[in-house]
Amino acid sequence: MNLKKLKKKVAFEVLKFIPLKEIIGIGTGSTISYFLKYLKKFKNKIKGAVSSSTKTTNILNEYGIKIFYLNNINFLPIYIDSADEINKNMEMIKGGGAALTREKIIASSAKKFICIVDETKIVNVLGKFPLPIEVIPMAYKYVTYELVKLGGIVEKRKNVLTDNNNYILDVKNLFISNPKSLEKKINNIPGVVSVGIFSKRKPDILLISKKNKIKTIFRK
Ligand code: A5P
Repeated sequence: MNLKKLKKKVAFEVLKFIPLKEIIGIGTGSTISYFLKYLKKFKNKIKGAVSSSTKTTNILNEYGIKIFYLNNINFLPIYIDSADEINKNMEMIKGGGAALTREKIIASSAKKFICIVDETKIVNVLGKFPLPIEVIPMAYKYVTYELVKLGGIVEKRKNVLTDNNNYILDVKNLFISNPKSLEKKINNIPGVVSVGIFSKRKPDILLISKKNKIKTIFRK
């Protein structure tokens, strides 16, 4: 089964977790784009959505799904998103689509976070996927030096400005054996807006799309 089919399968499966007449938080990326296609048919059953990016907002608008701002609601029951890598402790790398900051904020605000991935995203150790870090433009050189000290090979993502008007640094060569401590360390570098390690806000439910089945894991 090809990657596209795996992504579509898990994007469809997650529909059954959606609470009726509620607002749902929605991530960004190709898996989420498939999910939104399915959600379109289901749109009268939900109240609306909180979006994690301009890309997702544009799709929601096109599909006629009402958008709510996080600051204007009191409760977000659920957030649905994918990941670039995830380990067996459900720690993740996110931000391949440059939306990591808003994704982290919405994931943290939601009561439940459901992550939908295809099996290629499962890793033993995080770090093969270059770690995305959102930085304030005037600080990118300084942050780069600090990341090199941590052993990283840093590249500024070309021609990318995030939805918050910041840059993305992609960091290779990090063998992330302790995601918690690295998330904290990088968050503490002045100029970093957020780091694509999600070790504090992990999914509550993980759906993994495999060739013959969808595996559902509930975090204890
Ligand atoms: C967006 O910034 C990312 O966090 C995405 O969730 C992640 O890159 C997964 O994307 P795909 O569904 O395109 O693989």
